[in-house]
Amino acid sequence: MTSPTIGVIGGSGLYQMEGLSDLREVHVETPFGPPSDAFITGVLDGVKMVFLPRHGRGHRFLPSEVNYRANIYGMKTLGVERIISVSAVGSMREDIEPGHIVIPDQFFDRTQGKRASTFFGNGVTGHVQFADPVCADLAAVLGESAKSVGANVHRGGTYLCIEGPNFSTRAESRIYRSWGVDIIGMTNLPEARLAREAEICYATIALATDYDCWHEGHDDVSVEAVIAIIQKNVATARNIVKASASRLDASPCTRGCADALQYAIMTDKALIP
Ligand code: ADE
Repeated sequence: MTSPTIGVIGGSGLYQMEGLSDLREVHVETPFGPPSDAFITGVLDGVKMVFLPRHGRGHRFLPSEVNYRANIYGMKTLGVERIISVSAVGSMREDIEPGHIVIPDQFFDRTQGKRASTFFGNGVTGHVQFADPVCADLAAVLGESAKSVGANVHRGGTYLCIEGPNFSTRAESRIYRSWGVDIIGMTNLPEARLAREAEICYATIALATDYDCWHEGHDDVSVEAVIAIIQKNVATARNIVKASASRLDASPCTRGCADALQYAIMTDKALIP
């Protein structure tokens, strides 16, 4: 068996992946326009990796401006079978402290319909199953790897995806907490949807950077605070990716991510160009 190619989408603070050999910068053209940046391909401990900074080098794209379809299409074109997303998030739970890692297993959508987040449409109708939006096998590997590098890791949890770019109001934050969500971010849900449609495994290493604005004993979230925590902890996120790369070989996906479209397409196949 040849090892699967691993894609890494780096969020705020993770604009490059250190330790890759045989580095190449690959520009991919897509039917959806340009991806966030050139893809960086390379090899990490014998594993083929493809890295993309979600917001582009220099952090140029807002969460609503990221071309999620082009990013996932590019990963697919480069042969990626499993995507590890690395993302900064707010914590909605006391015991998830800034600096902790969460490997979410659910998403809840609070975006406002501004993002193109399906490859279907224009004459081709499909509905993928999304009850379990994260590849549980990939998530398990991320969880084990996080433990092995000494991270404080919480396995499972619901990631609430807001539109941004502003952080939440205090009323929103309190209401989200009452919904029972665990973390809050601005980017991962469209990626998870598109990865499923592209038949690619997807899971997230979420780095908690703040308590949003619900915690009376902590300052309200600010970019300054988020960046400070990322700088202190980005090495942990990188180490989790590295520890996962070699483990993934021995943990193939048993969840059917690679066959997600098998029963999803409703359009008569004879009509699909
Ligand atoms: N990313 C990091 N912290 C966040 C927060 N509190 N809300 C939304 N996205 C975030």
